[in-house]
Amino acid sequence: MSTTAPPSTATTFHHHPNPDARSDEERERLVAAPAFGTVFTDHMARVTWTAGAGWADHRVVPYGPLSLDPAAAVLHYGQEVFEGLKAYRHADGSVWTFRPEANATRFAASAHRLALPQLPVEDFLTSIETLVAVDSAWVPGGDETSLYLRPFMFASETFLGVRPTREAEYVLIASPVGPYFPGGVKPVSIWVVRDFHRAGPGGTGYAKCGGNYAASLLPQQQAQAHGCDQVCFLDAATGTELEELGGMNVFVVAADGSVSTPALTGSILEGVTRDSVLTLLREAGREVTERGITLAEVRDGLVSGAVAEVFACGTAAVVTPIGRLASDDFDLPVGDGGTGPVTAAVRAQLTDIQYGRAQDHHGWMHRLLPPR
Ligand code: COI
Repeated sequence: MSTTAPPSTATTFHHHPNPDARSDEERERLVAAPAFGTVFTDHMARVTWTAGAGWADHRVVPYGPLSLDPAAAVLHYGQEVFEGLKAYRHADGSVWTFRPEANATRFAASAHRLALPQLPVEDFLTSIETLVAVDSAWVPGGDETSLYLRPFMFASETFLGVRPTREAEYVLIASPVGPYFPGGVKPVSIWVVRDFHRAGPGGTGYAKCGGNYAASLLPQQQAQAHGCDQVCFLDAATGTELEELGGMNVFVVAADGSVSTPALTGSILEGVTRDSVLTLLREAGREVTERGITLAEVRDGLVSGAVAEVFACGTAAVVTPIGRLASDDFDLPVGDGGTGPVTAAVRAQLTDIQYGRAQDHHGWMHRLLPPR
């Protein structure tokens, strides 16, 4: 990432309670069986930025539609960035989030790339602490569930000229969720796309901006048309090396137990989960390499048995095994198509830390609410 985090300013978010907050019964019904990203809590946090006054009007307000002028710059030129992180309820009722400073720093780096203002790290963290405190009853308890936090920022200025906005909105919304994939935690199938790329050298690949995800949707449709769950992109420069999936990083486990993942080239999202998985694998004594991984190497390795496991990771998907890899000219199972032991172990290690079942030796967990 090309920028350092902006300086901290601790600011209070003023709370405007939602007079139409859901009843306890309604909320409990919604939280009991959360699908990914379909249900939202009663409030959202907002901060408004103008070139003249900077960040101002920090507030938590009732969740609801945003009012935008049809000429708002984001609707025309896509000047927008976002983040994804989760709040986890531990067995004692306390609520925690995972490495939020890393998301705050990446949010600032993404904003810099999109010529948006950088939200101070402290405001990012305080927005999360305040919203989760206000909507604490929405944090589910139980395995594989969490409160997904979606901070985002967009160009709100009413202006059709192509230049960086002079007005922006930061918004944080929250959604009780279960597993990202509708089938739950089980191996997914991947279509490797040859004729589209997600990002190119010098582009916005490392930034978490809506445009990268918009560009992934047509290839994702193609993946689904070929009976696959997700698309995998190859690098734009040579068309030979694995980059990432539509919204997840990818790891390859060799039969000798060593692990590799595509190096950060500027066109790959610098995943917080990716970085945590690298740390856990290294601490487990595995040989781990960040490097260029060619599709030919993976395809041949699946045929010969030299590649034993492939998995994807991200905040939403956590660690998801890949059971099948296909493209125009091959269609191969990964191992026996199930969840391999390295994938299962690193997934368990990570989620044990996140859900408070294992000690957090790294200082990754950030407490949002005390035990109840
Ligand atoms: C996340 O993992 O949080 C993301 O933002 C990816 C998105 C595909 C849900």
